[in-house]
Amino acid sequence: MGDFSGKTAFVTGCSSGIGRQSAHALARAGANVMITDINGPGLDETKKQLAQYGVGVESMVLDVADPKAVDAAIAATVKAFGGLQLAHNNAGIMGPVQEFLAYTPEVAKKLFDVNVFGVLYCMQAQLRHMLENGGGSIVNTASVSGVRAVPMIGVYTATKHAVIGLTKAAAVEYSARGVRINAVCPGFVKTNMTGGQFSEEVEQALGEQHPIGRFSQPEEIAEAVLWLLSDKASFSTGCTMFVDGGQTC
Ligand SMILES: NC(=O)c1ccc[n+]([C@@H]2O[C@H](COP(=O)([O-])OP(=O)(O)OC[C@H]3O[C@@H](n4cnc5c(N)ncnc54)[C@H](O)[C@@H]3O)[C@@H](O)[C@H]2O)c1
Repeated sequence: MGDFSGKTAFVTGCSSGIGRQSAHALARAGANVMITDINGPGLDETKKQLAQYGVGVESMVLDVADPKAVDAAIAATVKAFGGLQLAHNNAGIMGPVQEFLAYTPEVAKKLFDVNVFGVLYCMQAQLRHMLENGGGSIVNTASVSGVRAVPMIGVYTATKHAVIGLTKAAAVEYSARGVRINAVCPGFVKTNMTGGQFSEEVEQALGEQHPIGRFSQPEEIAEAVLWLLSDKASFSTGCTMFVDGGQTC
């Protein structure tokens, strides 16, 4: 996939799932990595796992919905490793599985705070640095729910549409200035987010919605993120890459 040696990556939502595997993929490819998450113990475990790669790894407990904390985390990344070229804005929550009318303002606001404003704050802090320091590459985790409505997760669906909007909006403004910005759109992935949410029967039915016949593993999403972040994707920007087992066919 290319050599990321000498580059620094910033990843959110690293305590588990896709973010943890994205941090593995980046560290395996030689990048120094700042791993962040709101969940400290999970982050510690990820940091332990990454020690095998011999790259620089720093961790920081971060709530992406707090813009000041996001700015501080980007500044800490630059201070620790001398720069920032790669970012994967991945932290997210699904919220309750419930019908549209059941969403309270509190639940809906929380979903937008984390999934939309969290991505916006991260992108703004990353772009401020990258535009002044030789460019970079950003990937946001959206979802197939960013282009189609999935029943019973209505507000989550709206937040992921917004993540694609933010990705495209920033791509048209900043690609010519050396920062590529893309979104990865997973189908259902076996992670904490989906684990225990559905009965075995429902999970099997959801798996069958994917022409490939199953949920994906987070490592399969991380591979796509790594490609989008790499120079191999030099002409890809503003793109929504589906890694969904054919779910959106
Ligand atoms: N699992 C799926 O089926 C699926 C499908 C499409 C998209 N996604 C997206 O992938 C991303 C990663 O999810 P995952 O499936 O790996 O689930 P996950 O629950 O394993 O990972 C999400 C991580 O985000 C962290 N997080 C939650 N709120 C945060 C906050 N305010 N600040 C910082 N970190 C916070 C959690 O602690 C967790 O470690 C999410 O954006 C999710 O919406 C997941």
